[in-house]
Amino acid sequence: MQPITLALAKGRTATTTIQLLNNAGYFFNDFHETSRKLVFYDTNQFIRLLFVKAVDVPIYVEKGAADVGIVGKDNILESAANVYEMLDLKKGKCKFVIAGHDATVLQSNRLVVASKYPSIAAHYLQNIGIQTEIIKLNGSVELAPLIGMADVIVDIVETGKTLKENGLIVLQELEEISTRLITNKASYATKTNHIKNLIYNLQVALEG
Ligand code: PRP
Repeated sequence: MQPITLALAKGRTATTTIQLLNNAGYFFNDFHETSRKLVFYDTNQFIRLLFVKAVDVPIYVEKGAADVGIVGKDNILESAANVYEMLDLKKGKCKFVIAGHDATVLQSNRLVVASKYPSIAAHYLQNIGIQTEIIKLNGSVELAPLIGMADVIVDIVETGKTLKENGLIVLQELEEISTRLITNKASYATKTNHIKNLIYNLQVALEG
């Protein structure tokens, strides 16, 4: 059987996910946190692992370059990729929030919003009746309200340390985020058993 290709988000959740795959019986002996390698096979050649930027995982899966992806719900929502979401791995838990200096700002009907997630940010703010000018940033988003470039940010918060150390507060919590397993729709039709086995083994590992 051909291995299935799994796109995995590089970064803070990668090691936890590799550990979960180990617990599910898939061993990547040559994986190391400091490695710069981008492709790994498990010892039984069931899985070909591709390490890609988190933001790109949904597109690899939607296009069929990967059969399966493991990535945060934040990137799945922002991409609006046409994929199946199959399993909540309950790792990398964090929240989407609106953050800024002062909650009274949410009484305005128009705000400048900085975010790594422009679609999500516009959607959330519109839902609470606020028109937006969105500034798309690629990181260090907390800087924008600090230097007056934006009124608020829409971002993920895990420990709250970054907000705190930059004098910002959560103005409104929006949605719980965690790592999810997604599949390409055609792959799920043609490699059903292989993908279902992977999901089953991951579920058992999560329950264990
Ligand atoms: C993320 C997020 C926040 C921070 C939240 O950024 O955009 O800035 O983590 O984590 P905390 O609540 O635990 O402090 P990331 O670390 O991915 O870096 P970036 O700013 O380069 O995107």
